[in-house]
Amino acid sequence: MNLILLGAPGAGKGTQAEVICQAKGIPAISTGNMLREAVKNGTPSGLAAKGYMDKGELVPDDVVIGILKDRIAEEDCKNGFILDGFPRTVPQAEALDRMGVTIDKVIEIYVPDETIAKRLGGRRVCEGCGASYHLDYKPTRVEGVCDSCGSRTVIRKDDEPATVLDRLKVYHEKTAPLKDFYFAQGKLVTVIGQEEVQKTSELTLAALDD
Ligand code: AP5
Repeated sequence: MNLILLGAPGAGKGTQAEVICQAKGIPAISTGNMLREAVKNGTPSGLAAKGYMDKGELVPDDVVIGILKDRIAEEDCKNGFILDGFPRTVPQAEALDRMGVTIDKVIEIYVPDETIAKRLGGRRVCEGCGASYHLDYKPTRVEGVCDSCGSRTVIRKDDEPATVLDRLKVYHEKTAPLKDFYFAQGKLVTVIGQEEVQKTSELTLAALDD
């Protein structure tokens, strides 16, 4: 089963990707996490991506497509995968088609922009393993300490309020057109993101079996 999770920044794609990964036993692939790892390690892709990411802009298609192509060729993807944050432009979706990848379902998690701004203000991420938390909706057991690896949790650089507004603008201009692209193929299912993670997860898992 090859799935795409579509949605605005902060809609909960990463959170639901983990839930599906546990439920279906297929890997969740986040191009955002892969790019942040590349930045941290100072690789050529990371160096090319950093400036765009800090400003909330999209990294050029060729950089992201190259990273994604290598990742889905790995052994753990042979029974399927969940794409979180890819494709983000129509040319990226067309590149997936050219790779011969068949997408079974595209789940859009819809959350209004006003809710997004509030959510991202409370997000904290682990600087060690990248796990994502929220001060109110998904707190760590010990304040400021990752439940999984014990490293410090911090505010993500692109979660500053002005950058969040830029990311939302980019989403509406460049990524939202993908809804029409996949609707036309009969693959788009929309889940309305709820105030509680658990409720959104129930709707997301139900959408998979629709
Ligand atoms: P990326 O890391 O993909 O960021 P994003 O799409 O902006 O998504 P986020 O990680 O911000 O949010 P999410 O939807 O995963 O929400 P989450 O589950 O964390 O990309 C970062 C950058 O990398 C981009 O700006 C771009 O520069 C570059 N990039 C990446 N892919 C690219 C591509 N394909 N092409 C070009 N450039 C690319 O949830 C958010 C918060 O809300 C969390 O704190 C969570 O705990 C909480 N939460 C989640 N669900 C709920 C709920 N139901 N109720 C309450 N709180 C909730």
